[in-house]
Amino acid sequence: MHNIVLIKGDGIGPEITESVLKILEAAKIEINWIPASAGMEAYESSGNPLPDETVALIDKHKIALKGPLTTPVGSGFRSVNVALRQRFHLFCNMRPARTLPGVPSRFGNVDLITFRENTQGMYIGQERYVEGDQNRAESIAVITREASERIIRSAFEYARKYRRRKVTLVHKANILKYTTGLFLQVGQDIAKDYPDITFNDMIVDNTAMQMVMRPETFDIIVTTNLFGDILSDLASGLVGGLGVTGSANTGDKHAIFEAVHGSAPDIAGKGMANPTALLLSALMMLEHIGELDSAQQIRKALYRTLPDKEVITADLGGEGSTSKFTNAVVSQLKKI
Ligand code: NAI
Ligand code: MG
Repeated sequence: MHNIVLIKGDGIGPEITESVLKILEAAKIEINWIPASAGMEAYESSGNPLPDETVALIDKHKIALKGPLTTPVGSGFRSVNVALRQRFHLFCNMRPARTLPGVPSRFGNVDLITFRENTQGMYIGQERYVEGDQNRAESIAVITREASERIIRSAFEYARKYRRRKVTLVHKANILKYTTGLFLQVGQDIAKDYPDITFNDMIVDNTAMQMVMRPETFDIIVTTNLFGDILSDLASGLVGGLGVTGSANTGDKHAIFEAVHGSAPDIAGKGMANPTALLLSALMMLEHIGELDSAQQIRKALYRTLPDKEVITADLGGEGSTSKFTNAVVSQLKKI
């Protein structure tokens, strides 16, 4: 029996977690879900978007599946997602984007994974008005050799383990010479330890263009926090959108699995949300805890369901709903 902390999240969070739980239950995986709250929902009920109990539960059980959490734009509390990644040293944010059967997109041959440094860069929360002047703001980015080594090594180790061919390090070292320059330098050093894997580096703006023109030329991308955030959403767009890409946030001891997308307030509560992204995150979680067969079975059921226009959700051009889709995956699972 696996003990796993479950944060349902805000917006579409409760709908998509309900769907994923139903599918995992149908696959008969022994999971004891431990509910915990965070985000807007926690903030409204307790005044704290990241309650101590939630932190303690994740600390104790090590693994969590998390729905999206709303972060107020501009003022208001800081991102709980960022806080969780920093609190548990989840330095590696892995975001695969793969062409899926039946999912409409401009390309048919995308298979890339973004490894995003998850604890530093522009996301450390060091932002302020200069001397209280609200017309002048500044923000500090931090890059350390240690954190760069950890994420870049993770990318190379993954490449070696899963026989991927290439690691592309994405940076802006022409302009941000110290911060992303350090990241690049660390990457060039580490690449020497992996002569079996092709290594190249690319400036981020060019990368964005190349990804849109020739996504099949990318394999593994490793980059700093902000660039990874943006490019992984771009990568989602190459394979059908935010509704179909999952992610794993991992550190040495803890791991939190979540969709790449946010709480989608525009469609929340309408039964329209696509649970595929969270389901794919849950499959990464099952692989992480060693439930490889179950993960494979669910993936098979998912792949058989995705081409069915009658059940898939509107973001994929379908006529279905969250519940129709969920039931279809469950019935495919029963046939396997
Ligand atoms: P979003 O990802 O929530 O939505 C962007 C667009 O994609 C919307 O049109 C939405 O309807 C659509 N979309 C997203 N997920 C979908 C799904 N599963 N099925 C169908 N359509 C889907 O991004 P947005 O609107 O910029 O952010 C909303 C909130 O989410 C903000 O408060 C933001 O801070 C938060 N957020 C949280 C994240 C997390 O918990 N890891 C990640 C990204 C944003
Ligand atoms: Mg993002």
